Amino acid sequence: MYDEVDSTNRLLADLAHKSAPDGTVVVAESQTAGRGRIGRQWVSPPGLNLYVSILLTRPQVTAVLTWIPLLAAVAVVRAIRDLTKRAARLKWPNDVLMVRNGNGRKLAGILVEAIGGSPAGTRLVVVGIGVNVNMPLETFPQDLRSTATSLLIETGRSVERTRLLASLLGAVEVLYDQLCDQGPDGIAAAYRESCDTIGRRVRIELMGSAHIEGTAEGIASDGALRLRADDGKMLEIRAGDVVHLG
Ligand code: BTN
Repeated sequence: MYDEVDSTNRLLADLAHKSAPDGTVVVAESQTAGRGRIGRQWVSPPGLNLYVSILLTRPQVTAVLTWIPLLAAVAVVRAIRDLTKRAARLKWPNDVLMVRNGNGRKLAGILVEAIGGSPAGTRLVVVGIGVNVNMPLETFPQDLRSTATSLLIETGRSVERTRLLASLLGAVEVLYDQLCDQGPDGIAAAYRESCDTIGRRVRIELMGSAHIEGTAEGIASDGALRLRADDGKMLEIRAGDVVHLG
């Protein structure tokens, strides 16, 4: 547990290169350079939220690796349900949303970083999770106030962060064991149940200014998003930012 770090993901990657064991967890009260997906920043003020990174070092086949971002999302949904009884929804691949009056607001974000291999031949993966827990609306930067939310805003109650952390770590452990021992079927089913993207019209924003529009039809066997593009082609999307259009 750290008071202030630049990024729990960055710190844990350093520890991993110094042989930190599988399951090492870094938690911080605040981050000065919290990392988001696609080079974005993650707003990380002190004392309010959860910023946690978990190291996975077990030998991993590609079939397991591609499911880790989705597994982390399912774990966040379970921990939130456990503590608040609320059903969070997922925007592919792993934005955690609370849907109110038909609008999904972002409650938690996940950044999975593969940081290379060790001499022993294992793959190192850092799973970084940020959950907006006790953050009042006025604490969010102005430009995020209509698109982001917290458990406090959604439930009207503050949530004990240590309990949320314990529940989240427990869920990651159970799901990761399940993925390694039994393969992705169970996680895929849980993911589909919470997924708000499947069945919707979406725009996929790709690198640069390119984008594709179509209908999200499902999740492929490796966790990719199956998209029926407007020109009729079936695509499997493995990277990109999804915008729900309807
Ligand atoms: C996103 O953009 O949705 C991903 C946000 C991930 C934020 C978490 S907070 C803990 C961990 N450390 C980081 O620097 N980022 C992740």
